[in-house]
Amino acid sequence: MPGGGLPCAAAPRLPTLFLSLLVLSLLATASATPQTDADRVVAAWVARLPASVRQLPPLLGLPSAQHPFVFHHLRKAGGTTIRRALYDVSRQLQLSAHIPCHTVACTVYSPPPRDSSPRFAILGGHYHRPTLQRWLGEDGSGASRRAGCLVMLRSTVDRVRSCWNFRYVQEPMSFGLQPLAPRLHAVDPRALNASLPTLRSVHGEGCNNEALRVLSSVGADEEAVGRLTAGEEWSPLAVGALDEALGQLSQCAVVLLDRCGATMRVIRHWMPWLAAYYDCSTQRVQVGTTARAALSADAERIIRTHNALDERVYAFAVRKLDAQLRLINGTLPPAAKRAVSSLPLDERAEHRPRQGVRVAASGLRRPSASVAGSHARAGFRFR
Ligand SMILES: *[C@@H]1O[C@H](CO)[C@@H](O)[C@H](O)[C@H]1NC(C)=O
Ligand SMILES: *[C@@H]1O[C@H](CO)[C@@H](O)[C@H](O)[C@H]1NC(C)=O
Repeated sequence: MPGGGLPCAAAPRLPTLFLSLLVLSLLATASATPQTDADRVVAAWVARLPASVRQLPPLLGLPSAQHPFVFHHLRKAGGTTIRRALYDVSRQLQLSAHIPCHTVACTVYSPPPRDSSPRFAILGGHYHRPTLQRWLGEDGSGASRRAGCLVMLRSTVDRVRSCWNFRYVQEPMSFGLQPLAPRLHAVDPRALNASLPTLRSVHGEGCNNEALRVLSSVGADEEAVGRLTAGEEWSPLAVGALDEALGQLSQCAVVLLDRCGATMRVIRHWMPWLAAYYDCSTQRVQVGTTARAALSADAERIIRTHNALDERVYAFAVRKLDAQLRLINGTLPPAAKRAVSSLPLDERAEHRPRQGVRVAASGLRRPSASVAGSHARAGFRFR
């Protein structure tokens, strides 16, 4: 800056400077879109990655009722194999476990109330994390703070395609029912745009925004979570839900279905007891890259629009996986001294889900809407 002596020289101009800053910030506020707000939220959580990765609770010892381990199974993201491995661990090492499809029915989405049940060392299922954390904290033992957790994610278009083809085509047929829709590649883009937020599986779930379904309060409201970014405008809940989901993800170890080698390094580092029972390289076969018909560019764009928040969660997860690898190989930079808050407090309040979001008191989600209901709500027509 020319002239030096900044404090003296600048003093008379301060009001002008202040005014132009004010105008600039007003302009910035006026032009901020939910998209740019969302990107700001992601950037703030990325900035905190070195700190949050260093704070990940290491689970070098075996999980126990006092130090439980939770696997949050995002649907159609490779979690079935991890659940099976967790079940094998629990049997071999005689640990109490709550793993739907293995220790209880597949349609159970939350552990039973604390006082009527044994405490579990290992939990793995389609849990709604904000609800599960209340469960973990219910006995006041602070278990929720000491619980280790793992989340596996999958890239958005692959996940939605797998969800659609499994939930709407394969699964109903396996129950002897009519498929709820044609396979994804055969769906006309306009029908896809209309049915992504409305179509429900036999379990009453849609395919949009799975990360938000599991990791944010909005996830307890199937109608809301399917529509977060579906229309002309984003839902007013969208940015706050993203902020919450990234905050939740920051507390867990993160692995990606699409990065097996890195995934195994993370599991060996944070959960060595699981590494002996889980091998993602054998999982490829099951998840399959079997000849898949290509999706049109329009279809992919529509999927990404409806899942704009999940896309951001996935992008964050990629950054987090890299930060975890850096910690393991000793190249993670030191954590920033000052933690940045992703949203100013007043905006946080504004974006937080409020009365519009119903969170089932028991945490148990009603497992199924009727198949006929699905058809009716989706308005999907076969050709
Ligand atoms: C998808 O549907 C929404 C809501 O009806 C509409 O605003 C949007 O323009 C549609 N997009 C496409 C690509 O058809
Ligand atoms: C450590 O891991 C990071 C992230 O995967 C990678 O970019 C870097 O090259 C690795 N460094 C060493 C010394 O292995």
